[in-house]
Amino acid sequence: MAPASKPRIVQIGPLSGSPVAQPLIDAHFEPFRLWEEADPVTALQEKAGDITAIVTTANHGCTRQIMEAMPALKAICSWGVGYDSIDIAAARERGVLVSNTPDVLTDCVADTAWGLMIAASRRIAQGDRFVREGHWGQVHGSFPLGNRVSGKKLGILGLGRIGEAIARRGQGFDMDIRYHNRHARNDVPWTYADSLVSLAAWADFLVIATVGGAGTQHLVNAPVLEALGPDGILVNISRGSVVDEAALIQALQQGKLRSAGLDVFEHEPQVPAALRALDNVVLLPHIASATHETRAAMAELVLHNLQAFFETGKVLTPV
Ligand code: 8YV
Repeated sequence: MAPASKPRIVQIGPLSGSPVAQPLIDAHFEPFRLWEEADPVTALQEKAGDITAIVTTANHGCTRQIMEAMPALKAICSWGVGYDSIDIAAARERGVLVSNTPDVLTDCVADTAWGLMIAASRRIAQGDRFVREGHWGQVHGSFPLGNRVSGKKLGILGLGRIGEAIARRGQGFDMDIRYHNRHARNDVPWTYADSLVSLAAWADFLVIATVGGAGTQHLVNAPVLEALGPDGILVNISRGSVVDEAALIQALQQGKLRSAGLDVFEHEPQVPAALRALDNVVLLPHIASATHETRAAMAELVLHNLQAFFETGKVLTPV
């Protein structure tokens, strides 16, 4: 018997964030590699008229234009939890299902937020540079002191799955925890702050765990940073768009903010030279979910969403 042919899907961009994702997709589907096409829209119109599913990533997203070029499209399965890069309104208008990869990355992203909080407060990355560059002279006194983390005030912007996991870790560090969200939650023990500015004014650490996109663009602006103040530390593991990066740089340069730990930036992978020149920032290349375990789990969840769509017409983790 001839082997059953694999369903064709459109793949928007390479799955380079995981060594196992592409082989897994290739084992079950026949992806049309859109990023290799010089004129993607024409290529879709000519060669993908009957394709019903797209695989993409939080990074590559999916535009309205691509959806318009695929008349048979019914599902977009994305690798990543954020979907600000996918035109959700266009998908809804067409009745196209969209899935992401929630839950499986929550712990690793929360761990990274904590890594950044401790690194920014205790000068971990700065200390590493100091030793490597041969500046360590006398045993004590040659490197500036950091600031205590345990027992401090932790403010979380966006108490979704990831924000909650960050807060839970804060309990282990004996922290006083508050959060700001669109709505107060009655299923958590932490205090709700009804404005971001009041949360920032109260907090020692302000950790951003909200969604990206137009609704949260530059939510963390100059007044919020001013409220966080010269003893405050900002950590961002969500989207660079949530922070007014120019205002952040100015606050850090002028000593109006103690330090920042950033995994995401406004124009990734571009990181402004002014930010790279500062010693009081810890900069990561968007790696909050980047562990072997989590990236493999994300790949499996994308696969399972695609398989569920082809078998049942539904996705497992719709957004
Ligand atoms: C991914 C992310 O690494 O899941 C998300 O939304 O930002 C990260 O986990 C990446 O952006 C996927 O393309």
